[in-house]
Amino acid sequence: MDALMSAHDWDERYRTSELIWKAGPNQWVRQYTQDLSPGTALDLASGEGRNAVWLADRGWQVTAVDFSAVAIEKAKKLASQHGRRTAERIHWAIEDVLSYAPTAEYNLVLVIYLHIHAEQRKAVLQRAAGAVSPGGQLLVVGHHTDNLTHGVGGPPNPEILYTEEDVLADLAEFPNLLSRTAQRVERVIDGQPRPALDVVVEAQRSAATQR
Ligand SMILES: C[S@@+](CC[C@H](N)C(=O)[O-])C[C@H]1O[C@@H](n2cnc3c(N)ncnc32)[C@H](O)[C@@H]1O
Repeated sequence: MDALMSAHDWDERYRTSELIWKAGPNQWVRQYTQDLSPGTALDLASGEGRNAVWLADRGWQVTAVDFSAVAIEKAKKLASQHGRRTAERIHWAIEDVLSYAPTAEYNLVLVIYLHIHAEQRKAVLQRAAGAVSPGGQLLVVGHHTDNLTHGVGGPPNPEILYTEEDVLADLAEFPNLLSRTAQRVERVIDGQPRPALDVVVEAQRSAATQR
């Protein structure tokens, strides 16, 4: 994976195997959302749809955005395998998150393993934060900067990795978004000699309507 991967590059990557990221949800998405009441969710850089489908299975109405048409096609197929009700709960959008402007507020906004340059990440995370409804949640998960030296997997380019402090700094202009979790966590991968190191930042917008 490279910082400069275009939609075309991602399309080519997604063409190579049936599912790259598995069918089930990311473990942090599962952990941090499983106790939430279903509402509306926005999944930015949704890939093959594993997280969007899992949420839709649980009753969420999901808008899932990714610039890879191949990924979205695979995601639609995954959703349809989960039945008509799940598939109907997801709106898929082939869009670049660098220009995508959410037109609504959502009870849950996900940005999961989106690795782009720092300034771009800040812009996307700020747009994501701006799309969280009062009382709603933002969940950001990524490969931690330390993953290169102490973890496994993820992009090899240090410029597109980040830390929990980076995410908090990106979100500093949103004082009504209170961080409840901001940490480096270990994710055990079967067959790997050491765990992957992830950033997990979970924040909640205060219930008051002002930002
Ligand atoms: C590592 S995958 C993660 C997919 C998904 N969030 C998951 O956890 O399974 C990163 C995704 O980001 C998407 N992506 C990267 N840059 C993007 C951009 N500028 N706009 C939209 N999607 C983008 C890629 O197409 C890819 O699907």
